[in-house]
Amino acid sequence: MEDMEQKYEFIANASKDFMSLIDRNYIYKAVNKAYCDAHKKKREDIIGRSAADIWHEDRFNNNIKQYLDKCFAGNEVNYEQWFQFDGSERQCYNVSYYPYYNEKGEVTHAAVVSRDVTAYRQAEEERNMLEMQLRQTQKMEAIGQLAGGVAHEFNTLVGIILGYGDMLQDEIYENITARQYLNGIIDAGRRARTLIRQIKDFSRLDVLEHKKVWINEVVEQAVKMLTPLMASTIEIRYHAHEKLLILGNSNQIHQVILNLGVNARDAMSEIGGLLEISLEKVDIDYDIVLKDAKSRYYAKLSISDSGTGMEKKIADRIFEPFFTTKNVGEGSGMGLAIVYGIIKRHEGFISVKSEPGAGSIFNIYLPLIKSG
Ligand SMILES: Nc1ncnc2c1ncn2[C@@H]1O[C@H](COP(=O)(O)OP(=O)(O)O)[C@@H](O)[C@H]1O
Ligand SMILES: [Mg+2]
Repeated sequence: MEDMEQKYEFIANASKDFMSLIDRNYIYKAVNKAYCDAHKKKREDIIGRSAADIWHEDRFNNNIKQYLDKCFAGNEVNYEQWFQFDGSERQCYNVSYYPYYNEKGEVTHAAVVSRDVTAYRQAEEERNMLEMQLRQTQKMEAIGQLAGGVAHEFNTLVGIILGYGDMLQDEIYENITARQYLNGIIDAGRRARTLIRQIKDFSRLDVLEHKKVWINEVVEQAVKMLTPLMASTIEIRYHAHEKLLILGNSNQIHQVILNLGVNARDAMSEIGGLLEISLEKVDIDYDIVLKDAKSRYYAKLSISDSGTGMEKKIADRIFEPFFTTKNVGEGSGMGLAIVYGIIKRHEGFISVKSEPGAGSIFNIYLPLIKSG
C-alpha cells in the first residue's frame, strides 16, 4: 500500500467502532465499514446525505443536532446512550464528537465515534450487585452463627422430645386418643427437626467435605428432578455444552438448583412460563470482574424464569434467612439463605437480576478446577 489515505481507510474499516465525518451542513463526508453495517446501508448510500435523512428528522432534531452544534462550536462531546438499530438488540453506545479544524482554525467537520459498551455496562451492573452482596455477607455470617448456635441447642431438645415420644408410643398403644395426641406431638417434632436441619445447613456449623464434582452431571440430575415438580404450563429448557469440574458437595449443589427451580415455579404459578437453566464455562477476565475471585475460570449456572419478577427492595433482601413474601405455610424464607450459604462455602458468587413483570435471572459462579 503506497497511498497513505488507503492505509488510514484500512485502519478505520478494521475498527468495530462506528466512525463518521459530518460537515457543517450535517452532510456525511466519510464513514467506516462498521458504520455502514450498523445502518445496513452501502457507503455510497450514506455519503452525501444529511444526518437528518439517515437518522430520521425526529431523532436528528431532538438528539443528534444539539451534539453536532456543540462540536461545531469547538467542543469535544461525549455521552452514553442506549439505542436499538432495526433488527438488532438494544445496545449501550459511548458516543464521542471531535471538532475537525482547517488551517484557518475553523471547525469544518465533526468526527463522530460510537463504541458499543453494552457488555461493559452489564458487567458493571453485575459487579455492583455482587459487591453489595459481599458487604451483606458479614451480616449473614453473624446471623448464620447465631442461628446455627440456636439450632444446635434446639436439635438436642427436639431429639429428647422425639425420643421420649417414641418410647411413650409403645406405652400408650391401647389408648387411641392419647395416641392421636402423641402423633401430633411427634409430627410437630419432626417438622421442627427438618427446619433445624435447614438452619444448620445454612449456618456454617456443618462443614461438609468437598470432593471433585462434575457439575454438569449434578445439574442434569437436578433438572430431571425438577421436571415433575412443574405445572404443565411451565416449560423447562436446559442448555449445557461442556463437562465442568468443581470442588464441592454434589448434594448441596443439587439443593441449590432445586431451591431456585422451586422459587421459579412459584413465581410462574399464575400464568405459567419458561424456566431456563444453563451451564457454561466463563473466563471472568471477560465476563465479570471480581476482586475476590479465586480462579480465572468459573462455571456459570444461570436459572431464569419468566415469572412475576420482583422489585428492588425485595431483591435486596431475598438472601436473608426467613425473608419471604409467601403466605404462612407456603414459604419458610430459608430457600435462598441456604443457597447463599452453600455458594459461599464453594467460594462462589451469586447475583440476581429481576424486574417486576419481567421475570428473574439468578447467576451463580463456582470456581473451576482442572480436570484429572
Ligand atoms: N424466581 C423468583 N421470582 C420472584 N421472586 C422470587 C424468586 N425467587 C425468590 N423470590 C422471592 O424471594 C423470597 C425468598 O425466597 P426463599 O428464600 O426461597 O424463600 P421462600 O421461597 O420460602 O419464600 C420469596 O418469598 C420471593 O418473594
Ligand atoms: Mg423458596
